[in-house]
Amino acid sequence: MTTHTVTLTGLRAVYGTGTRRVTALDGVTTSFASGTFTAVMGPSGSGKSTLLHCAAGLDRPTEGSVTIDGTRLDDLGEDELTRLRRDRIGFVFQAFNLVSTLTAAQNVELPSRLARRRQPAGDVAAALDAVGLADRAGHRPSELSGGEQQRVAVARALVTRPAVVFADEPTGALDSASSRQVLRLLRALVDDHGQTVVMVTHDPAAAAYADRVLLLADGRVVDELTGGITAAAVAARIAERELVAESSC
Ligand SMILES: Nc1ncnc2c1ncn2[C@@H]1O[C@H](COP(=O)(O)OP(=O)(O)OP(=O)(O)O)[C@@H](O)[C@H]1O
Ligand SMILES: [Mg+2]
Repeated sequence: MTTHTVTLTGLRAVYGTGTRRVTALDGVTTSFASGTFTAVMGPSGSGKSTLLHCAAGLDRPTEGSVTIDGTRLDDLGEDELTRLRRDRIGFVFQAFNLVSTLTAAQNVELPSRLARRRQPAGDVAAALDAVGLADRAGHRPSELSGGEQQRVAVARALVTRPAVVFADEPTGALDSASSRQVLRLLRALVDDHGQTVVMVTHDPAAAAYADRVLLLADGRVVDELTGGITAAAVAARIAERELVAESSC
């Protein structure tokens, strides 16, 4: 039986009012099966980041519900939501978001420290080992390559053994060799550890690492690919739908 780690039902997200009103999500219903890797694609402004932020409990949707691991986020108060986010959800940002004065190991440990919880030292070492950076534990971000910094960020997202890892353009700031390393790492987390991963990307080659590709346009899911996902197939579907995968930068 397929278990869905994340379920989104009728998600709408409206920002601003009057002439500044923007409907970022316009009724998204979908779910992410446990132990699968989904890529979310679509033109700039189509609502990808908003979808990820709502699904991860970083933003509250205007309407609709998000269920993670059986818990409805809209039933939770702020403190409970913070706790669930900390314990059950990992998030990886395009810009790494590491603390520059801390070492790789201290960055991985930071969420537990902020939660005033002792993360066993072995867990931090194991997370760094899982991303291939056991020998960089004492390095600060400025002493690491971009790809290595992003892998530290993935280790930080993983250390609590979350139900789901959301990644918003995790390879957007990386060269192609570093991108491949991060993508192979995300793929291995799914294949070897049954991790559930949802990743926003503009790059059909990155999406080809996923089991499923969701295409968004104007805040709606307009298409979905499963099986036979190659960069060429993804690019062709985007072209067919006239969804120009322009870069946000
Ligand atoms: N905090 C906000 N206030 C007002 N409007 C917002 C806010 N965040 C996003 N929007 C608007 O909502 C829409 C969707 O934005 P979102 O960031 O989800 O797009 P995206 O698909 O991630 O785009 P990109 O590929 O450029 O990152 C856009 O039109 C954007 O201008
Ligand atoms: Mg975005």
